Amino acid sequence: MTDVLPAWTAAEGAHRAQELFAATFGDRPAGVWAAPGRVNLIGEHTDYNDGLCLPLALPHCTFVALSPRPDRTAVLVSAQGSGTRTVDLDTVGRAGTTHEVAGWPAYVAGVAWAMVEEGLDVPGFQIAVDSCVPFGAGLSSSAAIECATAVALDDVASLGLLQADDPGRARLGALCVRAENEIAGAPTGGMDQAIAMRGKPGHALLLDVADGSARHVPLDLDASGLSLLVIDTRAPHQLVDGQYARRREVCEAAAHALGVPSLRVVSDAVADGGEDLASVLARLHDDEQRRRVRHVVTEIARVRELVEVLESAPGGVLEGDRLAEAGRLLDASHTSLASDYEVSCPELDLAVETARSAGAHGARMTGGGFGGSAIALVDSASMDTVADAVAAAFANRGFTPPAFLLATASAGAGPVTGNLEET
Ligand code: GLA
Repeated sequence: MTDVLPAWTAAEGAHRAQELFAATFGDRPAGVWAAPGRVNLIGEHTDYNDGLCLPLALPHCTFVALSPRPDRTAVLVSAQGSGTRTVDLDTVGRAGTTHEVAGWPAYVAGVAWAMVEEGLDVPGFQIAVDSCVPFGAGLSSSAAIECATAVALDDVASLGLLQADDPGRARLGALCVRAENEIAGAPTGGMDQAIAMRGKPGHALLLDVADGSARHVPLDLDASGLSLLVIDTRAPHQLVDGQYARRREVCEAAAHALGVPSLRVVSDAVADGGEDLASVLARLHDDEQRRRVRHVVTEIARVRELVEVLESAPGGVLEGDRLAEAGRLLDASHTSLASDYEVSCPELDLAVETARSAGAHGARMTGGGFGGSAIALVDSASMDTVADAVAAAFANRGFTPPAFLLATASAGAGPVTGNLEET
């Protein structure tokens, strides 16, 4: 039987972060907060096109133990890093400038920076970070650090955003996007921070990036005897490199060529019958743009279709034709990402193809691509068969052994100290 990477309980995560904090700073923290990683069910590379996506929060979280300091300094330590890092919050600079913050501390310091930029009064702090979200797996470990830091600072600085519920969570998520775009220098689209802040147990999040609205879509896979198996291909994955930025630029150039502010406008026009996709594509003279636009427009349509399938399932139970349709949509998403958007890689393709042949209802890469993870919708009873088949196929091709996780739709970021007795 293949091992599945367990999620820490809140108690375990809090304990680890507190211990690291005490060992480093010789004190107890003011509290512990957590934020989850994510997988995206469907709607890939749509967020920076003002599109729709449907992520869910993982049970795997990043935990931060934090205390405010009386000065403007952030002192950081991570169980996944070595030594402490000190950042002067008054001199944090944008990525690519003299005062840029190198490495993972940019995700933490960037959040404090974004808060100050937007007129929020946050203190210096010391912070210890520990995480069971695998790094570099395309599961948004960076958004998890940002969002855990954001809720911690919100709490210790009494900003009241978490208490303002969804609008406050949306605002905290947007601050984390600024940290990632401007301080860490990754031009990502906001899906990861939105789900890490706004996730709800038992639900995926239909995120409409055009207006920032979100709807929780029931996703009770257990009731349907299904599981969402995450296959971490362990192929290196890096969003700060040029490929992701290049995809974004081509989409923006295509929108410009079509005379619209974003490809979402095209997708809406196609959805309501005002335009047909073939004529839109015929207006583009660049083949790369045509293929990228076809992916974005068809992918946004697939998000709508999958939401319809999930919301129309009686009692939330996904079976029969609806289950087959959900699988077909996942498969079609992968094909489009691999052929039109060209963000897959041999490891992701092998994971997806093998999972399907071993009985998955549907499978696709998830996240930015170029490595990272795939998801497979499987009968819970055949999860081991699918995972074993993928592990065997990887061994056969000489790839690094993959890791497996289970994606159960979980909660967004928040404090954990108070919950310790319950977990
Ligand atoms: C990464 C980015 C997201 C999104 C996905 C692709 O995860 O962080 O904003 O663009 O890639 O859907």
